[in-house]
Amino acid sequence: MDLTNRSFLKLLDYTPDEIEGLLDLAADLKAKKKAGIRHDALRGKNIALIFEKTSTRTRCSFEVAAHDLGMEVTYLDPSGSQIGKKESIADTARVLGRMFDGIEYRGYGQQIVEDLAHYAGVPVWNGLTNEFHPTQILADFLTIREHFGHLKGIHFVYFGDARYNMGNSLMVGCAKMGLYFTACAPKKYQPDAALVAECQKIAAETGATLTFEEDPAKAAQGADVLYTDVWVSMGEPVEVWAERINDLSAYQIDQKLMNIAGPHAVFMHCLPAFHDHKTTVGKEMGERFSRDAMEVTDEVFEGPQSIVFDEAENRMHTIKAVMAATLGYKG
Ligand code: CP
Ligand code: NVA
Repeated sequence: MDLTNRSFLKLLDYTPDEIEGLLDLAADLKAKKKAGIRHDALRGKNIALIFEKTSTRTRCSFEVAAHDLGMEVTYLDPSGSQIGKKESIADTARVLGRMFDGIEYRGYGQQIVEDLAHYAGVPVWNGLTNEFHPTQILADFLTIREHFGHLKGIHFVYFGDARYNMGNSLMVGCAKMGLYFTACAPKKYQPDAALVAECQKIAAETGATLTFEEDPAKAAQGADVLYTDVWVSMGEPVEVWAERINDLSAYQIDQKLMNIAGPHAVFMHCLPAFHDHKTTVGKEMGERFSRDAMEVTDEVFEGPQSIVFDEAENRMHTIKAVMAATLGYKG
């Protein structure tokens, strides 16, 4: 597998073998790190991290991974650059491409990160857009592989708003890697028909299946992984909360739903999660709505079937693999 100079913008651009290769590289880099073996072969390189939306995991993963690989990092925060305001994406890309060996971008429309990659002349990595969050899926799949030993044939059920970055990317990833994917959501929260059609074509080749189900109890039957995400994503207006809670309350992952799947099933979430009222937003929402108005209960989040922190750790190892592979790391 040679991914040198490739950008990582969405999983649709990558073959199943390339995705598997990135997961293998991540597992190898993880083992090296745990064993204290140096892997800083990218010394002397510089990368830029552009964040037009906030982040904990993604930013820290890029920074720690870059440092482990021996690279220097420049962070541009949501207010600290001219991007898209005083300067076009094309101009920004051509400037940063002259200074940096790779660029991470988190922001709004997918077209922005695609344009950045088109003009930069160096690898660009998608750290989340409205449409896709591809590095998250690598972490999720590494975690599933570690837990179950394989990806093919895993019954993967996504509950909640399935037409945004997480639902879209998980559907693409499952189609590519031969999982049995179910999106469990009301009709209006199901993924876009054009993306579904594209994924159905991929699934026909990989042995994956795609199912769309409105009944949570039916969807949970036989599930190996129950996955959810926040009901209101970054950049969406606070006004949509009431509607989301009304539409999605029945899709909350609670212990009853986990029990339908059985004790072998795991709970996953990209995080950040609303599972209690200890956060500012959680507290505000708790005061405005009922305590249960969240995508997962505290019981499940904190329970023995939850593997969310293994998943969060794997963000770092998989992002490291993406940077290493696209910047020509040779071990
Ligand atoms: N999962 C994820 O992308 O987390 P952050 O928003 O904290 O980066
Ligand atoms: N759907 C969420 C994912 C966060 C990692 C968001 O876009 O805010």
